[in-house]
Amino acid sequence: QELQMNLEQIEKGGYDHFMLKEIYEQPDAIKDTFRGRMLVDQGLIKMAGIDDHIDKFLNARRILIVACGTSWHAGLVAEYIFEELARVPVEVEYASEFRYRNPVIYEDDILVAISQSGETADTMAAIKLAKENGAFVFGVCNVVGSSISRLSDAGAYTHAGPEIGVASTKAFTTQITVLTLIALQLAKKKGKISTSDFHTYLAELETIPAKVEKALQSNDHILQIANIYKNAQNCLYLGRGFNFPVALEGALKLKEISYIHAEGYPAAEMKHGPIALIDEQMPVVVIATKKGHYEKVVSNIQEIKSRSGKIIGIVTEGDKDVKNMADHVIEVPETIEFMTPLLTTIPLQLLSYHIAVLLDKNVDQPRNLAKSVTVE
Ligand code: G6P
Repeated sequence: QELQMNLEQIEKGGYDHFMLKEIYEQPDAIKDTFRGRMLVDQGLIKMAGIDDHIDKFLNARRILIVACGTSWHAGLVAEYIFEELARVPVEVEYASEFRYRNPVIYEDDILVAISQSGETADTMAAIKLAKENGAFVFGVCNVVGSSISRLSDAGAYTHAGPEIGVASTKAFTTQITVLTLIALQLAKKKGKISTSDFHTYLAELETIPAKVEKALQSNDHILQIANIYKNAQNCLYLGRGFNFPVALEGALKLKEISYIHAEGYPAAEMKHGPIALIDEQMPVVVIATKKGHYEKVVSNIQEIKSRSGKIIGIVTEGDKDVKNMADHVIEVPETIEFMTPLLTTIPLQLLSYHIAVLLDKNVDQPRNLAKSVTVE
C-alpha cells in the first residue's frame, strides 16, 4: 500500500494530481505532436497518414467526424478550422448518435474518428458502420496500437503521452494540434491558401507551446477566482466561432470534476434561453479574445452585466474593453484566430481544477466517470 502511494507520488512528478500535471505538460505535448511533422524552415508539413492518401483527401465529398466527450469537442473545433482553411464540408457527430441513426455515408466520404484511448465502444461502432458503407476511415488516437488505431485505414497519433486524469486536458489540445496540421496540409494541397499564409500559420503554430506556457502563468490568479465562485450552483460558458466548442469543453470540465452544473453555449444563442437564468448568483465565463467577433461578444457581456451576472472574461493580453466591464479577466497571449482554442482552453482547465480541489473532490477519478468507455 505504502509502496503504491509512493509510486503514485513519483508518477505525479511533484504535482498534487495527474490532472494538474497533465495541464502543465501541454506545452511539451503540443510540441511533441507537431515535431517532425511541421518543418517550418522548409515551409512543409509531412504527415504520412495524409500524404500517403492525399488523393482520397483531395477527392473527398465530405469529412465526417465522430467522437465522444472531449474528443467530440476537438472535432467541433476541427470542423471550423477545416471549413475555414480547406473549404471542405465537414459534419461532426456524437459517435453514439451516428451509429444508430442510419446516417447517409458515401464511398467518397472520409470518416475521421477522434479518440484519446482508441477504445471507446461507440466510436468503434461508428467506424465499423462507415467501413461497411465504403468510406475511408482516418483515426486520431493517443494510445499507440489501440483498437481504433488498428481499425482505421490511416491515421495520425497525438503525442500527448499517457493521460491518467479522467478529465481530458492534454489529449484535447494535442487533438486540435493534429487536426490543425491536417487542415493546413489539405488547404495547401487544395490551393485554398497562399504559400505566404501557409508559412505564417506554421510559424505561428510553432510559437503556441510558449504561449501556452504564458497562459499557465495565470494559475495563481485563477485560483483566486476559483475561491470566489467555488460555491456556485450553476455556471454558464459562452464563446463564438472557434471558441464556441471551447465554451462547451470548459463547461464539461467543470461538471466532470466539481459536480457544479455548467452549460456551454454559443454566445449569440444566449438570448434564446440561457439569458433567463442570469442573476447576481450566476458566474458567466465569456471567451472574448480579440478578432473572433470581439465586438459582438462585448455586447453579449453588456447584456449579462445589465442583468447583474458575474463575468469572468477570457481575453487577449492588453485587452481594455472587456476589462472595464468584467468582474475578472484572465489574459491569454495573442495568436491567429483559428489557433485561439489552444490558448483559451488553458484557463478553463485550471479554473475547473481549482474549484474541484477547493471543494475537496476527487479530481483524478470523479464519481461515475471512467477514463475510457468500452461498453455502451
Ligand atoms: C470518457 C472520458 C472523457 C473522454 C471520452 C471519450 O467519457 O471520461 O474524458 O473525452 O470518454 O474518450 P476517447 O478515449 O474516445 O477520447
